[in-house]
Amino acid sequence: MAKVPCIENAWLACEDGKIASYGSMEEFPGISDWKDLEVIDASGKLVLPGFVDSHTHLVYAGNRETEFVDRINGLSYEEIAARGGGILNSAQNLRTCSEDDLFEQSKQRLKEIISQGTAAVEIKSGYGLSTESELKMLRVIRRLRNLNWIPVKATFLGAHAIPAEFKGNKQGYIDLIINEMIPLIAKEGLADYIDAFCEANYFSAEDTRAIFNAGKKHSLVPRLHAEQLSHSNGIKTAVECGAISVDHLEFCNDADIELLKNSKTMPTVLPGAAFFLNLPLPPARKMIDAGLPVAFASDYNPGSSPSGNMKLMMSMACVQYKLNPEEAFNAITINTAYALGLQNEVGTITQGKFANLILTKEIPSLGFMPYAFGSDLIDKVILNGNVIK
Ligand code: NIG
Ligand code: FE
Repeated sequence: MAKVPCIENAWLACEDGKIASYGSMEEFPGISDWKDLEVIDASGKLVLPGFVDSHTHLVYAGNRETEFVDRINGLSYEEIAARGGGILNSAQNLRTCSEDDLFEQSKQRLKEIISQGTAAVEIKSGYGLSTESELKMLRVIRRLRNLNWIPVKATFLGAHAIPAEFKGNKQGYIDLIINEMIPLIAKEGLADYIDAFCEANYFSAEDTRAIFNAGKKHSLVPRLHAEQLSHSNGIKTAVECGAISVDHLEFCNDADIELLKNSKTMPTVLPGAAFFLNLPLPPARKMIDAGLPVAFASDYNPGSSPSGNMKLMMSMACVQYKLNPEEAFNAITINTAYALGLQNEVGTITQGKFANLILTKEIPSLGFMPYAFGSDLIDKVILNGNVIK
């Protein structure tokens, strides 16, 4: 994870939206006809692959600023949820929001993260918690994908919380997810992945396994919210179910690290949520030292991480989790690309991958990106070979 190959004094050519070729200026092959070519001078700057954000909930209605203040005044995330706030608060907002309004609000957030360098993203449902509203969220995600700005992967997270109308009847809600929601979503082709919040007072390891098995029958690939607020055997369940990634990991223990070592599941840290909720830090350094790859994503959502700024996540990876800048950079690019099955499309500068690139301002090194944690160091964003910022 500590290697980021770099070519100094380089040229790079894009063609038909893809990275066509690149190399050192000393070996520049020359171009016979410069007419109609758009040339960008990158002197003193870095050309980087765009960031890949493999975990967001950026389709939501309204915000949860009042809960933020409640937490400052002493309430915990769990206490807020227990009195009907938290995810259920967002569900109430979303159910009364029209699909068009939800699309417009979410489109602004997508635009914002693109300007901050994100070049591929995963977006989850999970604030609908009814068949109608989960489908509404997933259709909004499909509309965002159809903008063709950046690659968008959709995840069905019906098992995000138990909706108020199923209070005391969790099994009834799980049956609805399995028997009604999953088949409908699969029929419309609305999701790539299936997710659950495996946590005390939400969904147990057994619930998660049942939901994943149902999803897999419809070709939905598992990924999981695990070990965020307590140890709930989420990592074990994710690995056993063949999840592509397992995310959060605040309560990941040594046995879990061993399980991950024998798996293809990408451990993913969400530093924005651990920061915003003041949670213990997931053992990212320990995992890397044990030989594991680690991904870092934003978890952009209204309750636990109201930021999708991946450069900020990179700074947190360095400062709080002791990743060096190269490790942090791989964690927010190629490792998150793997966690979305997009490792052949994005995440590195490689011939044939999408020309989704960041051109930085004039900076001395890659390490300056996480170092200057509050500065916007992105000069240009290039998507499919077109300059859009
Ligand atoms: O990833 N942990 C569960 N889900 C989200 C939080 C959702 C919310 O609070 O709205 C997360 O942190
Ligand atoms: Fe999340």
